[in-house]
Amino acid sequence: MRVPAARVLVLFAHPAFQKSRVHRQLAAAARAIEGVTFHDLYEAFPDFQIDVASEQARLLAHEVIVFQHPLYWYSCPALLKEWLDLVLEHGFAYGPEGTRLRGKTLHSAITTGGGPSAYTPEGHNRFTIAELMRPFEQTAALCGMTWLPPYVVHGTVHLLDPAAIARHAAEYASHLSTLRDGRTPTART
Ligand SMILES: Cc1cc2nc3c(=O)[nH]c(=O)nc-3n(C[C@H](O)[C@H](O)[C@H](O)COP(=O)(O)O)c2cc1C
Repeated sequence: MRVPAARVLVLFAHPAFQKSRVHRQLAAAARAIEGVTFHDLYEAFPDFQIDVASEQARLLAHEVIVFQHPLYWYSCPALLKEWLDLVLEHGFAYGPEGTRLRGKTLHSAITTGGGPSAYTPEGHNRFTIAELMRPFEQTAALCGMTWLPPYVVHGTVHLLDPAAIARHAAEYASHLSTLRDGRTPTART
């Protein structure tokens, strides 16, 4: 078994996975990659009772943390927000003694119902994805982590047929493999 250059942890949050078209394929692709840990938060904590100590230990065992989720109300699904609130504790993730995540990389892999043109100043959603992801970018900064621009699959509601979803899943697998191999993927928003 090969030793990954960077241990990648995908933290997956999708509250309606049984109805998912896109993340179903992206998740299957991520799960299949050697050297990438895939952790389904809604499967692990269906009652929102997050095991903070084990989540912190999992973070410490990886160098690259990927939040994979659909964009919900311009942010993440509720369980990932709860996870952030509880796991990134003062004294662990931030504050004078909170240095445990320093030097790691934080990245988001998201899907959006809206197409690319909706995420422009003239578009329906008015703000770019980079602007909307600022709370995550600043979370990384506060924790001393390196923020990578998000990996985005746009137009999940109207623009993607099954063949396009399969292409995105293959591309996502290659993206995660690049991270695992310690290389910086080309920006793709
Ligand atoms: C509660 C909820 C909120 C959503 N908010 C957004 C949003 O803010 N922006 C957007 O582009 N799509 C939004 N969507 C659409 C989802 O992002 C889209 O359904 C998802 O990316 C599809 O992936 P899936 O097939 O894996 O479920 C929302 C969907 C739901 C159910």
